[in-house]
Amino acid sequence: MISPFIANLPKAELHMHLEGSLEPETLIKLAARNGIRLPYADAEAVQCAYQFDNLKSFLDLFYLGLTVLQKGSDFYEMTAAYFARAVRENVRHAEVFISPQAHLRRGIPIAVVIENVLAAIDDARARHGMTGGLIVGIQRQFDESDALAMIQLVKPWRDRIIGLGMGGPELDNPPSKFARAYDIARCDCGWHTMAHAGEEGGADYVRDALHTLKCERIDHGVRCEGDPDLMRELAERGVPLTVCPMSNCMLKVFPDMASHNIRRLHEAGLRITVNSDDPPYFGGYINENYAAIQTELGMSDGDLWQMARNSFTSAFISDDLRNRYLQDIERHRPSGLNQHGTFPIAG
Ligand code: HPA
Ligand code: ZN
Repeated sequence: MISPFIANLPKAELHMHLEGSLEPETLIKLAARNGIRLPYADAEAVQCAYQFDNLKSFLDLFYLGLTVLQKGSDFYEMTAAYFARAVRENVRHAEVFISPQAHLRRGIPIAVVIENVLAAIDDARARHGMTGGLIVGIQRQFDESDALAMIQLVKPWRDRIIGLGMGGPELDNPPSKFARAYDIARCDCGWHTMAHAGEEGGADYVRDALHTLKCERIDHGVRCEGDPDLMRELAERGVPLTVCPMSNCMLKVFPDMASHNIRRLHEAGLRITVNSDDPPYFGGYINENYAAIQTELGMSDGDLWQMARNSFTSAFISDDLRNRYLQDIERHRPSGLNQHGTFPIAG
């Protein structure tokens, strides 16, 4: 159940993979339209496949699913469908990932991918008043040379892309493998930077993303808890963590929601945001993620409000736009919650 407080709360989503937003029905429809053979007869069979042991078992399905994307209109429709859904959850701003290497390897021209995703993001602003940004994600299982080639190919759109990220199988692919790619992203392209780290990899991967790659945000990052000095640094510097609670449970990063550490990380003073990652695959969009941590971990409306506010302070947007969103969320501050995000102790 989504409470009215969660449903109405203005929020930004900062960790969502477009290819992971394809609903089972869309996968089946696009496969038929494009003559792609999937090992699933219908949407129900796809839904049944959403059972994972770890990150790899999810990624196998994620990479298979994205092969249904063939034409420019497929990329447009996928992006438009996500924004139309997100606006209904009161997401005011979304920064979304695309994995260009997966499409380039299948022979899809880069312009087909980027132009259509950007067009749908522009149209979401015109249609829904929702703002968005596109992040290109490196696939860390491939060599750095492959990532560098991808960056060169998307460079013509560098002013329309907000940042560089990194996904894929984390173990044995540490952030430092991509030090040059992140230097180019920062210095040549003028992009913001973030990386998946500390999802399956340990706190050392978070440290590596922060110090070697100089990332501004950490995607997941939940395993930072293994290193108290790092936790302190993340808190003091206000480095945002884009946490995806339902994803972490589905991929067995935590055995269940009651064991998730998001509440501890939030209470330790880290700048935590709540996100959906790959919503159909993990059983819920952003509001369901907020609801799950409230139900299972007893986080208060005040906690959720603070994390939604964090999503706007962590977004890569202009000061003007940020101030507009911050004024907006101020109107939803739970009564009694003071400026520090805590309730004054009674008595
Ligand atoms: N982790 C790594 N790579 C990914 C993910 C994730 O959660 N989702 C899509 N690609
Ligand atoms: Zn992710």
